Amino acid sequence: AQHGQEPLKNVIVTGGAGYIGSHVVYTLLKTRQYKVISIDNHHNSLPASLTRVSELALAELGESLPYGQQPTERDLESTLIDAYDCDLTNPTAVRDVFSKYSNQGIWGVVHIAAYKAVGESTEIPLTYYTNNVSATISLLSIMQEFGCHRLVYSSSATVYGTPPEVPIPETTRRLADSPYGRTKVMCEMVVEDLCESSALSQAKEGTSFQAISLRYFNPAGAHPSGRIGEDPRGRPGNLLPLLAHMAVGRVKDPVLKVFGNDYPTIDGTCVRDYLHVLDLAQGHVLALQALQEGEQLNKKVFASSSKGKFKAYNLGKGKGMSVLQIVDAMRKATGFEYETEVVGRRRGDVPALIADPSLARAELGFDAPHDLETMCRDLWNWQEKNPAGYM
Ligand code: WQD
Repeated sequence: AQHGQEPLKNVIVTGGAGYIGSHVVYTLLKTRQYKVISIDNHHNSLPASLTRVSELALAELGESLPYGQQPTERDLESTLIDAYDCDLTNPTAVRDVFSKYSNQGIWGVVHIAAYKAVGESTEIPLTYYTNNVSATISLLSIMQEFGCHRLVYSSSATVYGTPPEVPIPETTRRLADSPYGRTKVMCEMVVEDLCESSALSQAKEGTSFQAISLRYFNPAGAHPSGRIGEDPRGRPGNLLPLLAHMAVGRVKDPVLKVFGNDYPTIDGTCVRDYLHVLDLAQGHVLALQALQEGEQLNKKVFASSSKGKFKAYNLGKGKGMSVLQIVDAMRKATGFEYETEVVGRRRGDVPALIADPSLARAELGFDAPHDLETMCRDLWNWQEKNPAGYM
């Protein structure tokens, strides 16, 4: 049927108010196929982000209509987000959300909410295992209770640890070397086992549990409007938001400490695979579409899955960029004269993480076309417009 006639699919996005989450929610709204429900405990996000996402979606809806044509009720509904301030480690609160939609049911869940700082995870591992693993198991159990059997899971390239080769294919063994990375490996394994047991027990094809795990490389940038973006609390740990904070004066020190330049890479500094957060978000829409039983895409994605309907994909450009190349790109985008000082290596860093993105390209039709210049320009546009983040 033409899009716009079938009812909106209820999709829960956990961590919907966060940096990745808000861009995923925005991209889901743009399809006008989903009623987005966000669950977020605002540990690392603010509700304002979703208000802006909805405003963006409404503005783009208005621009998309022929002059004088009014939006339908359904179109307007598809720009609204049901946002719940709720902690995934509180099953009662999560059940309450699911039960609010029990008449039509929850079509699928995009599970993004997690703590994600590698260094911090070595200091407070139990907090990471509780928030990332226990909460995921609780969420999966509640999904079972409500008959919701489609999951897109936010995983990470850190599941590979120090990869034996780059670019990294999905068949690479998972050998994370931080508690954070291990929470991602464990959750993938829990989901895989659920998919396998469900395939064995569910006679009816349409109800066996299906999951796609998306292994993020390094997301960067922001929506070009500058209305939403990464808004870390305190001093950012990640390179790009730190460079943005330095250029906007939120970090007083003009010197970027480069964590080691004695790696076996192009200029001795670590190489990572940066992709635009909107390309990453589009990967989630493609993954959700692949979970629609009966479609060709669903058959293609799970054709080779031996253990139930579980599949993992790398989301990256397949292109590596070094720390110094990033600093240079941000110098050009911001006009800020960064100084760099080489210091010791950061524990847990690996020389190079570059995706082999060919599987996601071939099966999901995924692509990450935005280049580094665009990522830096969009990041700076967000930061300049929001020097103190969401207020
Ligand atoms: C990039 C490069 C640093 C800061 C992390 C998590 C990963 C994922 C994305 C959740 C590294 C160097 C950084 C600085 C520096 N998060 N750097 N000086 O480490 O690739 O990935 O964020 O999924 O799990 O590990 O990203 O931005 O922290 O660092 O030299 O002040 O920049 O050593 O090589 P990373 P990053």
